Amino acid sequence: MTALLDVQNLSLEFRSPGNPPIAALQDVSFTLDRGETLAVLGESGSGKSITAKAIMGILPKPASRITGGRIMFDGDDLLSLPAPRLRRVQGARIAMVFQDALSALNPVQTVSTQIAELYRVHRGMGKKQAHAAAVEMMRAVRIPDAAHRADDYPFQFSGGMRQRIMIAMALALDPDVLIADEPTTALDATVQAQILELLGEITERRRMALLMITHDLGVAGQLADRALVMYAGRVAESGPSGACSTAPRTRTPRASWARSRAPRTAAATCRRSRGCRPTSRGVRPAAASTRAAGTPPRSAARGCRSSIGSRPTGPPPATTRRR
Ligand SMILES: Nc1ncnc2c1ncn2[C@@H]1O[C@H](COP(=O)(O)OP(=O)(O)O)[C@@H](O)[C@H]1O
Ligand SMILES: [Mg+2]
Repeated sequence: MTALLDVQNLSLEFRSPGNPPIAALQDVSFTLDRGETLAVLGESGSGKSITAKAIMGILPKPASRITGGRIMFDGDDLLSLPAPRLRRVQGARIAMVFQDALSALNPVQTVSTQIAELYRVHRGMGKKQAHAAAVEMMRAVRIPDAAHRADDYPFQFSGGMRQRIMIAMALALDPDVLIADEPTTALDATVQAQILELLGEITERRRMALLMITHDLGVAGQLADRALVMYAGRVAESGPSGACSTAPRTRTPRASWARSRAPRTAAATCRRSRGCRPTSRGVRPAAASTRAAGTPPRSAARGCRSSIGSRPTGPPPATTRRR
């Protein structure tokens, strides 16, 4: 059986006048199935967000160009699907939660107007019905006193509540795939735990596929069934999330690993039964940070496949950093 989302050998470059093209993604491949959570890990600039944007069809144009590969969704290649059919997939059957809710939401529209707009455009609902559906969705993501808060503007909500509104918008059309691009990075630890819990619960209850982009191995371990580690636009490792997070083989996960060793209250929020150990699992193994770079730990054989061996030893493909 084919996977719901099947990204095959996706390659992408950025071009700017007078400069040689920059290969930002090279042969990126992974699959994602219904009810499954895949964590995409990797340091800043490794290509996580542009992979997500390619799937969503929101790459910066004309700066970027997909140079190869396929993005198969439910049997269709999104890279060759006609625009009207594409519109029924991107933003509807595949939805995305962005890192920075404040800049993703429209500051001059009430939150219910923004959620209701989706129901009006995609479901053809009237104003009243769409407003009621929006309030219902706000309740589903547990915004207290949703009926009264519906007419507030994004700036009137806390960071955590704004992220809930983003999640409500993403879930409004009941997508099959939810992409969350570092949805908790800007939040403090307690709120982060609540948002992760919400995402875990909702995606499990709706049997949704979740693509969780993060640079945090702790987050990946709590939520994901499988993990994929990106480095310099390539897939460096992939495998069960436990194996990847406990057996870092490249510099990228090892660096993330060191950061994830801080105690995490979010660990207590794990709701997933498969492959998730809701403890301070992010703190194993202490030896990882002291191991010589490039030396695979002995436990690396336990299922996390390295796609580029013990890379990176040589220079990575040329990429520019966007800060
Ligand atoms: N708008 C852009 N213009 C030019 N290059 C870009 C742009 N966005 C991303 N890139 C390139 O793609 C790389 C990966 O970016 P991104 O996917 O945003 O990284 P991250 O893994 O941090 O999400 C960057 O290092 C940069 O080289
Ligand atoms: Mg990013």
